[in-house]
Amino acid sequence: MRTTFLLNGSEITADTSDTTTLLDWLREDQNLTGTKEGCNEGDCGACSVMVTDASGARALNACILFIPQLEGKAVRTVEGIASPDGTLHPVQAAMVRHHGAQCGFCTPGFITTMATAHLNGVTDFDTELAGNLCRCTGYAPIIRAAQAAADAPVPDHVNDAPLLLTKNITGEAQPGAEPPTTPDALARWLDQNPHGTLVAGATDVGLWVTKQFRDLGPTVFLNRIPGLAGVAITEDEIRIGAATTLTDLQAAIAPYHPAFAELIRRYGSVQVRNAATIGGNVANGSPIGDGSPALIALDAYVHLRSVNGTRSVPIADFFIDYGKQDRAPNEFVEAISFDRQTDHLRCYKLSKRFDQDISAVCGCFWIDVADDEVREVRLAFGGMAGTPKRAPHAEAALRGMPWTDGTVGAAMTALERDFAPMSDMRASAAYRMEAAQNMLLRAWLEDQAQATSVLEVCP
Ligand SMILES: Cc1cc2nc3c(=O)[nH]c(=O)nc-3n(C[C@H](O)[C@H](O)[C@H](O)COP(=O)(O)OP(=O)(O)OC[C@H]3O[C@@H](n4cnc5c(N)ncnc54)[C@H](O)[C@@H]3O)c2cc1C
Ligand code: FES
Ligand code: FES
Repeated sequence: MRTTFLLNGSEITADTSDTTTLLDWLREDQNLTGTKEGCNEGDCGACSVMVTDASGARALNACILFIPQLEGKAVRTVEGIASPDGTLHPVQAAMVRHHGAQCGFCTPGFITTMATAHLNGVTDFDTELAGNLCRCTGYAPIIRAAQAAADAPVPDHVNDAPLLLTKNITGEAQPGAEPPTTPDALARWLDQNPHGTLVAGATDVGLWVTKQFRDLGPTVFLNRIPGLAGVAITEDEIRIGAATTLTDLQAAIAPYHPAFAELIRRYGSVQVRNAATIGGNVANGSPIGDGSPALIALDAYVHLRSVNGTRSVPIADFFIDYGKQDRAPNEFVEAISFDRQTDHLRCYKLSKRFDQDISAVCGCFWIDVADDEVREVRLAFGGMAGTPKRAPHAEAALRGMPWTDGTVGAAMTALERDFAPMSDMRASAAYRMEAAQNMLLRAWLEDQAQATSVLEVCP
C-alpha cells in the first residue's frame, strides 16, 4: 500500500506491506536508527515518535504503528528534533545539563515524548513520561530536565501542523485508492472480506504481527474513515465513535463522568492512549479491558453496522463468553452510546504497577442513592470472569436497601455468588475476590467522605 506523509518535514510516499511497522521502516529502509527497539510491544517507549495531524501532535510507539496508519500525517523522529543547523531542542539541552542519560538507549524515546509534551505545553511529566522506561539513569534527572525546558519557546521546525496544511497532505483517499473511506464502504468491504482484519489503533493487532508473526489477511485501516471518530454530546446522550482514541475520550468525558476519565489515565501510557480506540477495546472482548466495565456501569449500547443495516446491543449482553462477542463476521462497531445522566460513577483499577499495566481487577459502579436508600445500582467488573460482567447478586443486595455499611457488607458477601475468578500471573482467585469486595467497601467509605487512597492514608 502507498502511504504519503511528512517525515522530519519532507514529504515522502512509502510503498510497503500493510503490516510494515514504522519502527522497522525507519531503521531498515530509511537508516534512521535513532528510534530504538526495546520491547517491540508498546511497553517501553524506546521507539517513541511525534506524530502530527489536524488534531495536533502526539507521541506514539513506532513499533506497533503500521505505515498505512500514517496517511496524511507528519512524523518527527529524534533525528528531526534538533534544529536543521544543529542547535539542540530545549529538552535536549536540558537533558545534557541535568545528566538525564547514562547508556542513552532510552534517550531518543524520552526526547521525542518530552518534545511533544513541550510543544503541547503539557507539564504533568509523571503522566506524560510514564510510557518511557529507563533502566539506568533514574527518573529524577529526566523529570528535572523536562521541568527546566518547560518555559523555553517551542522551536518553529518541530511544529509540523502548518507544514501539513501548506503541503496539502490531508489524509483523504488518493484517487483510485481501494481502501474504504466511509462507514458505508467499510460495511461493503467487510461483507466481501468477513475474515479480514480491521485495524484501529493497532495496540492489539500490532502485537499479533510483532510477537506472533501472524498473517492478518486483507486489512482495512479505520483511521482512514473520518466518520468513525469523535464524541457527540447532545442533551439526551453521549455517543462515542468507535475509532475515538482513549486520549480524545478522556478529554471529552472528564466533565461528565470524571471517574471514567481518571480510569483512562491509568490505561497503558500516553503513547498507548494516543493510539488505542474505544471501539477496539470493546470489540476485542477482553475480560480485562478497562473500557468495558465503565461502559457497562453507564448502561451503554454498542451500535453495530453491516450491509444489512444497523443494530444496537446493550453492552452488558455484547460479551457472550470468553473470546465470543455478539458480532457477526460482517459487522463492525460503529459507535457506543449512553444516556446523559447525573453522575454516579466510581471506577477502581487494581494492577501491579500504577501506570502502564493491565488490570488484575477493575470495578466500575453506578450507585444512585436518594434519602439514604439505594435507588439504582449497576456493578460491573473486569478480571473476575471470562468476560466483563455485572454482579446481579451483589446488585440485588443493594437495590432498594438502606445505604449503610451493613448493606454493603451483604453485597460484598453476595459477590461470592456472582463470580468464581481464576488464578493467573496477575492475581490469585482469592485475591481477586477480596479485592473486588473491598472495591465495594471503598465506594461506600468514599461516599462517607473517608480517605481511602493510599496516597491520602499514608502521606
Ligand atoms: C503497552 C500496552 C498497554 C495496554 N494497556 C491497556 C490497559 O491499561 N487497559 C486496557 O483495557 N487495554 C490495554 N491495552 C490493550 C489495548 O490497548 C486495547 O485492547 C485497545 O483498546 C485496542 O484498541 P485498538 O484501537 O488499538 O484496536 P486494534 O488493535 O486495532 O484492534 C483490536 C481488535 O478489535 C478489532 N476492532 C478494532 N476496531 C473495531 C471496530 N470498530 N469494529 C469491530 N472490530 C474492531 C480489531 O479487528 C481487532 O480484532 C494495552 C496494550 C498495550 C500494547
Ligand atoms: S520498542 Fe518498546 S514501546 Fe516500542
Ligand atoms: S539511560 Fe540507559 S536505559 Fe535510560
